[in-house]
Amino acid sequence: MKFFVDTADTDEIRDLAATGFVDGVTTNPSLIAKSGRKFLDVVREICDMVDGPVSAEVTATDHETMLSEGRKLAQLARNVAVKVPMTPDGLKTCRALADDGAMVNVTLCFSPGQAILAAKAGASFVSPFIGRLDDISRDGMQLIADIIAIYRQYDRFGTEVLVASIRHPMHVVEAAKLGAHIATMPPNVLRQLYKHPLTDAGLAAFLADWEKTGQSILDS
Ligand code: G3P
Repeated sequence: MKFFVDTADTDEIRDLAATGFVDGVTTNPSLIAKSGRKFLDVVREICDMVDGPVSAEVTATDHETMLSEGRKLAQLARNVAVKVPMTPDGLKTCRALADDGAMVNVTLCFSPGQAILAAKAGASFVSPFIGRLDDISRDGMQLIADIIAIYRQYDRFGTEVLVASIRHPMHVVEAAKLGAHIATMPPNVLRQLYKHPLTDAGLAAFLADWEKTGQSILDS
């Protein structure tokens, strides 16, 4: 499973990239607004920091303008994945950009039928939002299971399932159990994955016992 981070905070991305666990980055207009920075500057900076795909979202809603925006974003760096919304114009734009050879991430996917459309439109990635489904008492993880089951029926679907709107580590674990290709998560969720109270307690006990020996590995 690949790990993407879902943020436009370049300090966070730089910090997490150093862990070796960041395979890509996803952004959206809300995250760009939160950064308070110029969109294209942020995308360029992230693309320099991370080798893998960096999703940058169009903001137009009509096909022609979306396509112009998408082509501009795709030219910023070789690893830009243009993000388009799950709308008729978005999917038409997805097809045109995919035909150009660009990576496209179809976002705001909330049903298996929408995921089929994204694959047929040549998307490199489809982004089902599981947390937002859970928020309205629907089963986000069931959507991931359904999409994976459908995509497995068709060898020609080259679309990767990019699980989005992840809220906690168990979302990552459950998505991995289902075989999802990618989980994009906020920085705090990636950090939470390291944590277990027994790891902390066990390490503290080992270090306390080691201290009693008076030894040092480097001075031995
Ligand atoms: O970037 C898309 C998605 O991950 C957004 O998540 O938490 O705003 O539902 P959230």
